[in-house]
Amino acid sequence: MCGIVGYLGSKEAYPILIKGLKRLEYRGYDSAGIALVNEKINLYKTKGKVSNLETFVESKNIAGTTGIAHTRWATHGEPNDVNAHPHFSDSKELAMIHNGIIENYDVLKEELMKVGVEFKSNTDTEVLIQLIEYIMKVEKVDLVNAVQLAISQVVGAYAIVVVSKKHPDMLIAARNGSPLVIGIGEDEFYLASDPSPIVEYTRNVVFVDDEEIAILKLGEELQIRTIKNQVKTPFVEQLELNLGDLEKSGFKHFMIKEIFEQPKSIRDSIRGRVNVGIDNISMAGIIDFKERFLQAKRIIFIAAGTSWHASLVGEYLFEELARIPVEVEYASEFRYRNPIINESDVVIAVSQSGETADTLAAIKLAKQKGALIYSICNVVGSSIARAADAGSYTHAGPEIGVASTKAFTSQVTVLVLMALLLGRKKGTISETRFQVLLNELNNIPSKVEQTLQLNDQIKEISKIFTYARNFLYLGRGFNFPVALEGALKLKEISYIHAEGYPAAEMKHGPIALIDKKMPVVVITPTSAIYNKVVSNIQEIKTRKGKVIAIVSKGDKLVSKLADYTFEIPETEEVLTPLLSVIPLQLLSYYIADMRDCEIDQPRNLAKSVTVE
Ligand code: M6R
Repeated sequence: MCGIVGYLGSKEAYPILIKGLKRLEYRGYDSAGIALVNEKINLYKTKGKVSNLETFVESKNIAGTTGIAHTRWATHGEPNDVNAHPHFSDSKELAMIHNGIIENYDVLKEELMKVGVEFKSNTDTEVLIQLIEYIMKVEKVDLVNAVQLAISQVVGAYAIVVVSKKHPDMLIAARNGSPLVIGIGEDEFYLASDPSPIVEYTRNVVFVDDEEIAILKLGEELQIRTIKNQVKTPFVEQLELNLGDLEKSGFKHFMIKEIFEQPKSIRDSIRGRVNVGIDNISMAGIIDFKERFLQAKRIIFIAAGTSWHASLVGEYLFEELARIPVEVEYASEFRYRNPIINESDVVIAVSQSGETADTLAAIKLAKQKGALIYSICNVVGSSIARAADAGSYTHAGPEIGVASTKAFTSQVTVLVLMALLLGRKKGTISETRFQVLLNELNNIPSKVEQTLQLNDQIKEISKIFTYARNFLYLGRGFNFPVALEGALKLKEISYIHAEGYPAAEMKHGPIALIDKKMPVVVITPTSAIYNKVVSNIQEIKTRKGKVIAIVSKGDKLVSKLADYTFEIPETEEVLTPLLSVIPLQLLSYYIADMRDCEIDQPRNLAKSVTVE
């Protein structure tokens, strides 16, 4: 969480930094701040969003061609002006921005207080910048050495950038566990938590690795060293990012834009992997580790949130098509319970951002225990993708709305491809079934387009439920994870309490909640267990619950029972999550919009959860 941006060059830094912060605001929006070096360091920060910062600096001196800026998701210290970043050192000669958590900050703070350092904020970040300055003073070393020495004392995750009044032509950055990318322009440098603030200025980027320090000096080449002072040659990569993907392009919110992008994002997830004509799937990551996959005794998915729901679809897919036993783990639980893992396990980490701290820590643990680590990430070059032995990118394009939508469908698409590929190689599905499913997967983008035509109907019905206090989502089989995902979407953006349940579990407890005020969303497209779900609907109606049903086109039975019915195109059962999730995304979007919620930046949330 938290977004950091830096600029060093000959242009005015302020507009670049503010624009960069807006691009990174999905990472946190509790407070924002900026520090510009111009004879002294002019530092401005304020509670709330980047727009508040813009208002705050209106009559201030914002000149300067070197600067750093930050948008915060609060961990240590409440979200207020004082705890906002950047933080000054005691002398105000240094300022720093930080993304991550310094876990041993209290010990370091105590030591510094004993030698007379005074702290202004409650943050862990201030401890680090004070420590850097203290080391410079006591050890008589330069700033680069002081940063090296200070971070070697730090336990925790960080991406930091330091500016110095005495060195207006320099920025020092370091990373351990939190993302940091450097853009290299003509006699100028950009720094950011992800490439989105950089892409319009340069496509040449260097992803900083853990335990590396970057020294950016005007008129000099970028230098990268390790904490132990080993010199590294920067590896310059070319960004493939479309600027249009970072704009709302006429939509009211990123979320609705991203919902409507799904025909394209699913196509992009398939593209290059399915050889149309020869009806074959090729996925380099799987081919490279074919034997490990084919001989895997178990596949363990590790993920969080929506990615966990996609992983649960993965469990159904892999067990059905490739007959490999699957476990689906919350990364945060897995990493702290001494899991039993060995060389015959394949661990698949699923993550849109590729930066989720728990998922990253969990795969590092599984790797130590000998498992093969495979990643399914959306953000290219992200930490999880880099930490894995192999992987597949989902190619969904930037997802900016905090509520994940197109990332889910592209993750499921990649999982379908993997399960089909492995099932064919293992001989657990017939050639005919393989061809039928592959063919149908190719039809999914146009069926998503048809499903999106429900938009106006869903918008209309959303009005009825704007003031609901609770929602229940029920599904079975492949659509049980979709029920969980629908409930998560609604609660995170509309703040309405919602629960997802396997439909048949309803009678073991949640049925007690049902009365005439309880909307129940039942996802029941054509499937082997359709009739069982119909019985569940009857149980709800008997208790006067309001049923909103997602059914396959032409359904007669449920339409008679349900209060509201949304029809999705007929498809193969294993592919239904790719369609059935769409009406649920739209429903939560319109309910939240009618409740005037901050859809793209819901309260207390951040897009990329880089702290535990
Ligand atoms: O980037 P990741 O996929 O690892 O993120 C995992 C969750 O934080 C994320 O899916 C979260 O639950 C979303 N806000 C859900 O919409």
